[in-house]
Amino acid sequence: MSPSDTTTFVPSELEGVDRYKLLTGLVVPRPIGWIGTLGPDGGQNLAPFSFFTVVAGTPPTVLFSPGHRAGTPKDTLANVVASREFTVSVVDESLAEAMNLTSGEFPPDTDEFAVANLTARAGDVVAAPLVAEAPAGLECRVTRIVELADPPTNAVVFGEVVRIHVRSDLLDGMRVDTVGLKAVGRMAGSAYTRIADGYFEMDRPV
Ligand SMILES: Cc1cc2nc3c(=O)[nH]c(=O)nc-3n(C[C@H](O)[C@H](O)[C@H](O)COP(=O)(O)O)c2cc1C
Repeated sequence: MSPSDTTTFVPSELEGVDRYKLLTGLVVPRPIGWIGTLGPDGGQNLAPFSFFTVVAGTPPTVLFSPGHRAGTPKDTLANVVASREFTVSVVDESLAEAMNLTSGEFPPDTDEFAVANLTARAGDVVAAPLVAEAPAGLECRVTRIVELADPPTNAVVFGEVVRIHVRSDLLDGMRVDTVGLKAVGRMAGSAYTRIADGYFEMDRPV
């Protein structure tokens, strides 16, 4: 990459939508955390977040970043602030369309499990619902929530993973069959990717 064939952007001089387009086009593919929460009235909520990753094995930690919509926190964010817990279900290829349905901007009292015809399963140690059809899921307790701006635009929610559920046929000892998992990756906009299509291995230098 030399300066002559490179276009350089100053994020602070761009419209928010263009910053988003460039960053989400460059950081690809992103895993999708399908986040299950309970509302204050006990209503179930489910939505996908691709600003999501695992950040540590010890303590076992994942994070995701829900935004605010017109100055109001998205339902998932409001729910984790109040309940301090959430689940993450893995989206496989068979669940991609259902995942997409649950990203609709529904009122807080809409149950996205019903919208997408999915089965909710309570966690063993958190009350938040998992997607029973998913090949794997995590139960998480919120450890911290960091707002990135004031007034708030996006928060980062850290969760300690307190249970890990994996379909047994995907396990070889403690190794996960990552190709068999068939997790879907998010590209930019409405584009997604499959793992099997591009999978390769490389040994680390000794
Ligand atoms: C694949 C995918 C990934 C998404 N990632 C995010 C994200 O990281 N952060 C976010 O705020 N919204 C994200 N969205 C949009 C939310 O899913 C959407 O706003 C949803 O309505 C939020 O639901 P809630 O209000 O029930 O929390 C994503 C949508 C899709 C389809």
